[in-house]
Amino acid sequence: MFFPKPEVVKRAHIKNYEEVYKYSITHPEEFWADAAKELSWFKPWKQVLHWQYPYARWFVDGETNIVYNCLDRWLKNDRKNQLALLWVGQDLEVKKYTYEQLNREVCQLANALRSLGVKKGDRVTIYLPKIPEQIISMLACAKIGAIHSVVYSGFSFEALKTRIEDAQAKVIITANSYPYKNKIINSLEKTLQAIKDCPSVESVIIVNRISERVKIPEDIFSKINFYQWTELLSKQDTLCSTQIMNANDPLFILYTSGTTGKPKGVVHSHGGYMVGVYLTSKLVFDLKENDILFSTADPGWITGHSYMTYGPLLNGITTLIYESVPDYPHPGRWWEVIEKFRPTIFYTTPTAIRALIRYGEDTPSKYDLSSLRILGSVGEPINPSAWLWFYKNIGRESNLPIMDTWWQTETGMHIITPLPCVPLKPGSCFKPFFGVVADVVDENGQSVGKNKEGYLVLKTPWPAMLLDLWQNPQKYRETYFEKIKKKTKKFLYFTGDSAKIDDDGYFWIIGRNDDVIKVSGHRLGSAEIESALVANQKVAEAAVIGKPHPVKGESIKAFIILKKAIQPSEDLKKELNLNVRMFIGPIASIDEIEFVEKLPKTRSGKIMRRVLKAQELQLPVGDISTLED
Ligand code: WTA
Repeated sequence: MFFPKPEVVKRAHIKNYEEVYKYSITHPEEFWADAAKELSWFKPWKQVLHWQYPYARWFVDGETNIVYNCLDRWLKNDRKNQLALLWVGQDLEVKKYTYEQLNREVCQLANALRSLGVKKGDRVTIYLPKIPEQIISMLACAKIGAIHSVVYSGFSFEALKTRIEDAQAKVIITANSYPYKNKIINSLEKTLQAIKDCPSVESVIIVNRISERVKIPEDIFSKINFYQWTELLSKQDTLCSTQIMNANDPLFILYTSGTTGKPKGVVHSHGGYMVGVYLTSKLVFDLKENDILFSTADPGWITGHSYMTYGPLLNGITTLIYESVPDYPHPGRWWEVIEKFRPTIFYTTPTAIRALIRYGEDTPSKYDLSSLRILGSVGEPINPSAWLWFYKNIGRESNLPIMDTWWQTETGMHIITPLPCVPLKPGSCFKPFFGVVADVVDENGQSVGKNKEGYLVLKTPWPAMLLDLWQNPQKYRETYFEKIKKKTKKFLYFTGDSAKIDDDGYFWIIGRNDDVIKVSGHRLGSAEIESALVANQKVAEAAVIGKPHPVKGESIKAFIILKKAIQPSEDLKKELNLNVRMFIGPIASIDEIEFVEKLPKTRSGKIMRRVLKAQELQLPVGDISTLED
C-alpha cells in the first residue's frame, strides 16, 4: 500500500472516500443532482434518473448545452482570460487560446457550419490530427446541436469511409497533411478516397496544418463543396447563439471496436455525459483553478473527448496538448514538454510508460518535473513494475499519487478509480467512483466472491453512460445487457472485462474477457500473463495469445520484445517461463516464446493480439486499418 501524503489529502476536494461513497450509493439521485447543480441549465430537470430496460435517462426534460458550460459561462468572469488551450507542436511551436479566444473561433466555425446548412441533429465527421482545430470543431458542432463523430487521424480511408457512411455525415472537417515524426501524412488524400462514394457528404472544410494547399480534382467531386478553414472563418461573426439542447439529445458518436469486426457507434449525451465528466475530472484529478492537465491521448479516442476536451473546459482549467509521440525527436520529449510548460497533472497509458522504460531512468532524470502534482494511467491494466517505475521516476520523491482510472468509451467517464486521498496498490484501479456499484460475477450474474476471477459488471447506472449504439439498439441490448443470463430487468451492465476483487475491496482488472485463454479448462487472461513477463527486468513488452492445442484445449504463445542490449537465449526463455509460473501458477506455463523486434499495435498503443493470432494460425487477419505498422 502506498499511502497519500497528508498535504495531498488536505488539499483534496474529497478527504474521505468511504464516507462519501456510502452516501452516494444510498442517495445516488441526490448525489448526482448536487453535481449537476454546479453547472448551468437553461431549464431544470423533472426527474434525475429514469430507468426503463435497457435505457437509463438522466436529468429528464432538463435543458442545457455542454458548450454553454465549457465556454459561455466563463466569459462572464475573469476566467475568460485564463488559458483554455495550450497547444505544443512537434517542433515545439506554441499556440495559446484563452477561454475568450477559444470561444471566438468556436463561434466562427459554428456560424460557418450553420451557413453550410448544418442543423441540430446533423452529423459532422472530424478527421483531423492533434491540432487545436480538432477541439474547436468538436465544440462548434456541439454549440449548434450537431452531432460530432471524431475519427482518429491514424485510421485508413476505409475505416473513415465506414464511419462516414454509418453516421451519414453531411460535413467533413479534415486537414491537408500533417507531420508525424519525420514523415508527412497526407490526410486529404485519404479523405478524398473515403468520400468518393459517400453521397451524404455535402461539404468539406480543410485545415492547412502544413502551409501548402492541395488541389482538389473538382471533376470527380462536382457535388461536394470544398472550403479552406481560414477563408471560411474569416467571413463569420465572432458571436453565435448556443443551441438549447435536451439533456438526452446526442452530443457525439464515437466509433469503437467490439468483439466483431464492424465498429460500434457509441452515442453520448449533452446532459448526463457533461455531469459525469465534469465531476470525475474535478475529483479524480483534484482540479483547482490554475491547473494544467497534460493528457497524452488523441482527441480521436474517448480520453481525448472526456479528459482532454470536455472535462478540463467544464472545470475552467487549461488543457495542454502535445502534437506528437513521446520519443520523437528524442526519448525525453514528453519530459521536456513538462519542464517547459509546467503541467500539474500528467495522464498517460501503461504502454507509453513501458515504452519509455526501455530508454532507462537517466532520460527523465535530466528534466525538471516538479510542476506535477498528480499522475494518471488509462486504457489497459498497468503492471505493478510499470506502476513503480512511473511512481519512482516521474512521481519522484514527491510520491505523487497515480490515478489508475478504469473506464470505457461506453462509460464516458472514470468508473473504477482512485482519488488522491486513498491508499494505492500498484496494479489495482482501486474501487468504484461515487454512485457506482460494481461487482465481479459468474455467467448467471452471481457474485464470485473475493479473490476470484469473473465478469466485471456495473449494477447501477451512471450519468455519462452511453445513450445507445448509433442506429443499432439491438446490438446495444445484446452487448451490454444480455450477456449475463438473468430473470429480472434490473440494471446490470456487462463491461466485457474480467476482474478480481481482493480482501480490501480493491479491483484488479485482468483484461478483456474476449482475450481470455482456456488452458486445460483454466481461464487465463492474456494481460495477466503479459504482466508477469514484463515484470522481468529484461523484458520491454510482451503479447500473449492462445493457440489450439490437441490436449489442453489451448496453449500459450508469448511474443517478447527485449530491452536494448539484452540477448535472446534458451536460458532466458526458461527464466521467463519460471516468472509466469511464479506469478500465476503452473497452469499458465508458456508453451512457446518468440523474441521479436516489434508487435502489431494500434496507433494508440494497444497490442493487437488478434493480428498476432491470425498470423500465427494462418487465418485471415481481418480489419487491420488501425494497425500502426
Ligand atoms: C481497458 C479507454 C485496466 C478495459 C478509456 C476496458 C483498462 C477498455 C483501464 C476500454 C485501466 C481501460 N485498467 N484496463 N485503468 N482503462 N481499460 O473503450 O479493458 O478504449 O474495457 O476506453 O480498456 O477501452 P476504451
